[in-house]
Amino acid sequence: MTDRKLYTVEEVKSLSINEIHELYRRFINPNQTDIFASLPFGNDIFESAEGVNLFTSEGKKILDFTGGLGVLGLGHNHPKILETRINFQKEKKVEVHKIIFSKYMAALSSSISYLLPENLTKSFFLNSGAEAVEAAIKVCFKSFKTPKKYILYSNKSYHGKLIGSGSISGSYKKNNQFPEMKNCISFNFNDPDDLEKKILECNNKGGVYCIIIEPYSASLLESCEDNFIEKLFKLKSKYEFKIIFDEVFTGFYKSKKMFYFQNFKNVTPDVICLSKTLGGGKSSISCLVIDDNTYNQAYGKINETFLHTTTYNGFGEESATAIAALNILAEEKFKIRVNQLSDLISKKLRELLTKHPNKIEKIKGNGILNGIIFKSYPSQLASLFEKIPSSFIKDRAFFLKKITATAISCQLYKDFNILSAINDSSFSNHLCVSPSLVVKDEEVNYFFDSLDKILKENINYKSIELILNYIKSKF
Ligand SMILES: Cc1ncc(COP(=O)(O)O)c(C=O)c1O
Repeated sequence: MTDRKLYTVEEVKSLSINEIHELYRRFINPNQTDIFASLPFGNDIFESAEGVNLFTSEGKKILDFTGGLGVLGLGHNHPKILETRINFQKEKKVEVHKIIFSKYMAALSSSISYLLPENLTKSFFLNSGAEAVEAAIKVCFKSFKTPKKYILYSNKSYHGKLIGSGSISGSYKKNNQFPEMKNCISFNFNDPDDLEKKILECNNKGGVYCIIIEPYSASLLESCEDNFIEKLFKLKSKYEFKIIFDEVFTGFYKSKKMFYFQNFKNVTPDVICLSKTLGGGKSSISCLVIDDNTYNQAYGKINETFLHTTTYNGFGEESATAIAALNILAEEKFKIRVNQLSDLISKKLRELLTKHPNKIEKIKGNGILNGIIFKSYPSQLASLFEKIPSSFIKDRAFFLKKITATAISCQLYKDFNILSAINDSSFSNHLCVSPSLVVKDEEVNYFFDSLDKILKENINYKSIELILNYIKSKF
């Protein structure tokens, strides 16, 4: 067994892949280690990264087509982000500012508000999407003088894995049995009638203080429909609840608009949650931006000033990084490029579907957030599936498609040096096609040409047999 040891950063540089696996196995997560180690990319050491490329210790250049699952909107180590951070460090700017003013956090708050509708003014910075969601729930709850009781969320939602955010995440609750926040009621995704029904039921029992939605679900790759949003805002006027838009994933040009909700006419939430691309691929920063009235109702009184605080609130370098990221994102040429990129990806997806109707069941998504659901049935895996208990595979047909997407992802890596992702949501079984916004046309073309070559042949399930064997061995 690997001994515990105090490493120096210098010593880390020479760790081998086996040593890294052993450290992960003993000190982080044994099952995760064995699952990832059974995939082709789990056996490379990634030393450096730039733009959409990763470089391994053996000198391989890998095209990172994962988009960092939403984080790498600006790619790895964007030069302007690096420059900002290096200058910040060289000039020994102030990082920690718990009881003194930070000009960086002050300017970041203004900059975010500048990009949003003008009622959204008050920002609060945290470090993860789930924390932002939980802070948003508190603001909404607290904004009513006479407390209301219920929060409503979609049955297909994902808002994080903390106790509060997990309690309003349909995709997470489905398989887990953790303690739950009280009075969380789900409605059917995109179903205005069910939404109204649930509001009416709650209204008789203490009222709804807020409804949280993802205007576009990054796990389903589906948008809320116009009639749903219209109904949501009509019901808000009637029953006076607050609306939270969770744009942790979709914010900052994952569609052709800077924020996804701008795809709907004349709607503004009371609170918006943002993260991922906000950190420029370097800062673990999230925030909620709150409507001015809502803020005043919730925290406007002197005795309410410090009702929500956190240690790592808008640290100096994180805030400076986020300001630099917003400046890149706000450039007109960036918007034009994202629009071209969205069109290119959607054209390529349609072409691929036309070429391989027998292999592809569906293409999904829009903007930069897309996916491919594959059809093929792996008859050679049937015997392995038989031995995996149904408690692990609830929906066999669904799981098979996820496994097929995983096999294709492995092939992209092994044969074409492309890293791609499968969303771990219980509602997702697609191969993600959601690259960084800085990807070039030729890199997009290379991704689709590689997929085309894979789909022309029989899909090779060899790489994922190892995972299935591993899962089987655990039951
Ligand atoms: C829409 C949405 N909300 C919240 C979260 C949770 O963010 P975090 O993983 O940073 O807690 C995520 C994470 O993917 C997300 O996609």
